[in-house]
Amino acid sequence: MIIAPSILNANNLRLESEIKKASEAGITRFHIDIMDGHFVPNLSYGPQLVKDFKREFPMTDAEIHLMSNNPKDMIPAFVQAGADLLEFHYEAMDQGQVNYWLDYLASNGLKPGLVLNPDTPIEVLHDFADKVKQVLLMTVYPGFGGQKFIPESLERIQTARKILNEVNPRITLEVDGGINADTIKLAKDAGANVFVVGSYLFKDGNIAGKVNKLNEILE
Ligand code: DX5
Ligand code: ZN
Repeated sequence: MIIAPSILNANNLRLESEIKKASEAGITRFHIDIMDGHFVPNLSYGPQLVKDFKREFPMTDAEIHLMSNNPKDMIPAFVQAGADLLEFHYEAMDQGQVNYWLDYLASNGLKPGLVLNPDTPIEVLHDFADKVKQVLLMTVYPGFGGQKFIPESLERIQTARKILNEVNPRITLEVDGGINADTIKLAKDAGANVFVVGSYLFKDGNIAGKVNKLNEILE
């Protein structure tokens, strides 16, 4: 079970200390949301943030959630920046390109991940399960932190876990959006094992206390 804090809703002027607090509570991977103002109606970070992150925290994994329909420029830029895992949206490119980019990531030493929006049929995973190391199911529509977990996601998590188990049970299944002390348990019971947590962790202080609480729930 992995908790991957999303820094989007952290205090970005105090990012270093926020990351340290979470790390001291045992976090080893952070989820970095890249929004291009086009695939989603919001803007966030660029490759420089990832470079700085890896320079300051070389032992901590940078998981890039790429929300951009310009994979040709953006995927190589984040590989160069030092990402450890990169997951891109199925909806952001022609279907024929998905395998190409999954191979590209693997051949550059990254863990390749594929992201599905809440309304994308889960069955598309059949075509890519032999190449992905992680699948991310969005449990909100991407673009903003602080939204409510979509309850219909639970059935999708179960179906995805079944499809992935047929190919490789070691593929991790991640959820992103509206994860808190209540929804994390539901998502875990449905079959998820990586949990992106944004506003719940960073909104009103006590980051370490909340990490500990989530870990207890996941035990
Ligand atoms: C939404 C992002 C999420 C978001 C999660 O587009 O992909 O990673 O920051 O934030 P919370 O946990 O607040 O829903
Ligand atoms: Zn995300």
